[in-house]
Amino acid sequence: MSNNIVVAIDGYSSCGKSTMAKALAKALHFIYVDSGAMYRAVALYFLRNNVDLKNADQVKEALKNVHLNFHSRDYQTHITLNDEEVSEEIRQMHVSDMVSSVAALHDVRVEMVKQQQRMGRSKNVVMDGRDIGTVVFPHAQVKIFMTADPKIRAERRYKELAPKNPEITLEEVFESLAHRDYQDTTRAESPLTRADDAIILDNTDLTPEEQLEFAISKVKPFLS
Ligand code: CDP
Ligand code: CDP
Repeated sequence: MSNNIVVAIDGYSSCGKSTMAKALAKALHFIYVDSGAMYRAVALYFLRNNVDLKNADQVKEALKNVHLNFHSRDYQTHITLNDEEVSEEIRQMHVSDMVSSVAALHDVRVEMVKQQQRMGRSKNVVMDGRDIGTVVFPHAQVKIFMTADPKIRAERRYKELAPKNPEITLEEVFESLAHRDYQDTTRAESPLTRADDAIILDNTDLTPEEQLEFAISKVKPFLS
């Protein structure tokens, strides 16, 4: 039986999940998996190929043509979609605005969860997303559910997007996050919800350094 350590980090959009997950993986020499990037890359493929989300056969066929790979360089996640680097494009608003509709599809979830479980089967891993502690790794040793004030979250995301997207407003980013959170928490399959045994971390007033310290203190007891 494998005795690797799994740290599951779930929560709302732009809470700082990937910032914390990445830093934690780096500090502990664990593998980092950004599960959201996988759903974003599938969404990008579906967008580019005009896949009709209401047509289950089309979705199934399209999924067969989606091949994702992670490459980690200095703990920056680079994801390829059919060998094309798409790490930047998947963060754009046009992908953000439709990713939750794609992530709500049964066939998409089954395929992504299968791949995620494979990645965390034998190695120490930090994975962030929406259903990691509830569905992907229900037996994860450490589960953290992140949350932060919605206005602060929007400001954080806006700061990231604004330099390259001067036309975007803070209000648009706020609305987009709120809509995605609504879709993610109300979908029928694997909705975003806190696992009973997950520790809540509200990082509204925390710096990235403080939240990392918190996470390390939770994982430490499992390190031999
Ligand atoms: O970084 P951000 O919080 O904006 O989102 P993300 O982690 O990149 O995830 C993008 C979207 O993928 C989410 O809004 C969910 O709809 C979906 N997702 C999911 O359904 N399950 C996961 N484990 C991860 C992401
Ligand atoms: O992965 P998720 O969408 O939850 O959020 P993120 O991409 O890790 O964080 C969104 C932004 O918030 C990043 O620019 C982080 O640097 C920033 N952040 C912050 O300002 N303070 C924190 N305590 C955590 C994240």
